[in-house]
Amino acid sequence: MKLFALISLSTLISATPVKRQVTASIDNLFKNHGKTFLGVATDEKYLTVQQNAAIAGQDFGAVTPENSMKWAAIEPSRGVFNFTGADYLVNWAVTNGKSIRGHNFVWGEYLPNWVLNITDAQTLIDVLQNHITQVLNRYQGLLYAFDVINEPLNQDGSLKSTHWTQVIGPDVFRIALEAARAADPSVKLYINDYTLDWNNTKVAGMVNLVNSLNPPGQPPLVDGIGSQAHLNAGEAPSVHGGLVALSEAGVDIAITELDIPGAEPSEYQTVVQACISVRPCVSLSVWGIRDPDSYRPTTNPLLFDESWQAKPAYNSIAGVLNSPSQPSSSSAGGSASGAGAGN
Ligand code: G3I
Repeated sequence: MKLFALISLSTLISATPVKRQVTASIDNLFKNHGKTFLGVATDEKYLTVQQNAAIAGQDFGAVTPENSMKWAAIEPSRGVFNFTGADYLVNWAVTNGKSIRGHNFVWGEYLPNWVLNITDAQTLIDVLQNHITQVLNRYQGLLYAFDVINEPLNQDGSLKSTHWTQVIGPDVFRIALEAARAADPSVKLYINDYTLDWNNTKVAGMVNLVNSLNPPGQPPLVDGIGSQAHLNAGEAPSVHGGLVALSEAGVDIAITELDIPGAEPSEYQTVVQACISVRPCVSLSVWGIRDPDSYRPTTNPLLFDESWQAKPAYNSIAGVLNSPSQPSSSSAGGSASGAGAGN
């Protein structure tokens, strides 16, 4: 039941008029290495700026809503849904042939007060199931993946205590994933978290959590692990080890929110090469188009500068992707389920 209708082209800022700044699309080059897409986080307030729409359209193959699919934006009060921002992004993506990574449902932060005020477990379960169903029904068949669970773990790999786990308990993860699977079986369901960028106790905790939700002999509930990769400068070389360790979970892996303070070209190259060389790493997304629009703008962590010019890091990625494929190592991971027909 598709509730959402494509808005006319004229109202969308399409990708074409602005002159290309770079010769090659890093998304096309990334796909030449057998990967699914190289994407970018954005939203209506950026896509309505022609230069941003042009870069997203010409150089990236997928979009993630930076904020428009979060609770505060999409259900500001109980049962009142505001799809304006999410509709714009989905419309723009469909019109420009881009994949969509939805973001996010079960996250312990930035929850509206009306959700935080619910302390009865069954009420919160009903609210969560309804929210997931409304969102995924609206975009039926249009989403490639969704971060159903976001940032569930502490650095030692234990479960974080959040409003969701305090009121419902750890079963909230199974409940949310089952609701998502029922609402749109075509969407790849992800658990997304940060500081999974080297082989550490949190990575082990993530593998255990996924294994607990994908017990042998039962249809898996988790199709992928998202490694946010909000790196600190100098951390790129350890990303490969983190990806290989995450492969033990036997599901897809995606780098979902990459940004690197200072955007050192060799660092971006190293992360892209790590994903290329680890077979279960299916996609890579950067968290924003240009530096001033980053959630940490003073660190200039992205691939385009304030004048929408490609930075050396962009060209270094294009350079490494232009060179022949390194053999992908890899741990026998790979996608658990056939789900994900969205795109
Ligand atoms: O939309 C309101 C606007 O109406 C209001 O006038 C304005 C002033 O307060 O706030 C606007 O909301 C802001 C929202 O971004 C949209 O711009 C929130 O205050 C602000 O906290 C929110 O920040 C986002 C943050 O997540 C919290 O949701 C960042 O843009 C976004 O980059 C960041 O992204 C997170 C990922 O979702 C998860 N992983 C970490 C990553 C970085 O923190």
